[in-house]
Amino acid sequence: MVKASKALDRVLVLEMVRVTEAAAIAASTLIGRGNEKAADHAAVEAMRAAFNELEFDGTVVIGEGERDEAPMLYIGEKVGTGKGPKIDIALDPLEGTTITAKAGPNALAVLAIAEQGGLLNAPDVYMDKLAIGPGYEEGTVGLDKTPTENVKALAKAKGVQPHEIIACVLDRPRHEKLIAELREIGCGIMLIPDGDVAGVIAVTDPDTTVDIYMGSGGAPEGVLAAAALSCVGGQFQGRLLFRNDDEKARAKRWGVTDLDRIYHLRDLVKGDAIFAATGVTDGSLLEGVKRRKGGCITTESVVMRASTGTVRWVKGEHHPG
Ligand code: FBP
Repeated sequence: MVKASKALDRVLVLEMVRVTEAAAIAASTLIGRGNEKAADHAAVEAMRAAFNELEFDGTVVIGEGERDEAPMLYIGEKVGTGKGPKIDIALDPLEGTTITAKAGPNALAVLAIAEQGGLLNAPDVYMDKLAIGPGYEEGTVGLDKTPTENVKALAKAKGVQPHEIIACVLDRPRHEKLIAELREIGCGIMLIPDGDVAGVIAVTDPDTTVDIYMGSGGAPEGVLAAAALSCVGGQFQGRLLFRNDDEKARAKRWGVTDLDRIYHLRDLVKGDAIFAATGVTDGSLLEGVKRRKGGCITTESVVMRASTGTVRWVKGEHHPG
């Protein structure tokens, strides 16, 4: 268990839910409307406004992009009143823009906070990800092993056969080889259209039946998922992937010196952290935003803290005036 941070005041735990709720409710007005950008914009504006009401000195370290490409919640943007504890923030006001536009499953409003310097400032490149749930010996699986070796090792540790393992993988052409290899050993594959933060977290929940997360997705989403695992347990490894020299140069600007480094959970999220998410659409982790008869809006959120391991499920009923 990591040491509790004074900066991450208890009050902030529940305040973080208000922030993700605001973003999720705003994005929900655009569920199924076929407009990714509008849904993302609504979530970003609402999350930023909610943050700016809070008494803290926040800095976005993982956000909507670099300053010249994102007008709001860009990396380096200051949020909060500027008074109070210094907090670093990783955020994705709408994780699953396409899912939201198509009314698919597992879109989330999500964020993680830590003390200054507690979150890896990951560049917006791809990351190879590998995650398993809690209860396994450290190093049971690793990015230095092949997918087959990892599935076999996990099956052995779980006391089942490799073909009884279920892997969660983003449904992308770039994963053709990985999927073929997993099919070869007969393991089940849950192919998700988008939303690998929920995909990674699924390994920690026995009800989802997902044993292992594999494949590449956004590096910022990797840090967010790692923040959740730092609270509930489980193992996560990530390796940044670069498609061109420009991405390598960007990573160097963010202080990445070893481009092939395998990041473990504690390299991505150091010390105490709070992770919060609110469902935008229904998913494996959370129920989505619902508009009830009479105008009440219901939300479901989860908020957790690394130092205590406390996980709170928060159902909200909102009555817009
Ligand atoms: P967005 O909300 O930014 O659209 O991200 C959705 C997502 O599926 C992430 O969960 C994932 O990490 C990333 O996109 C994968 O990227 P790509 O769609 O390029 O494969």
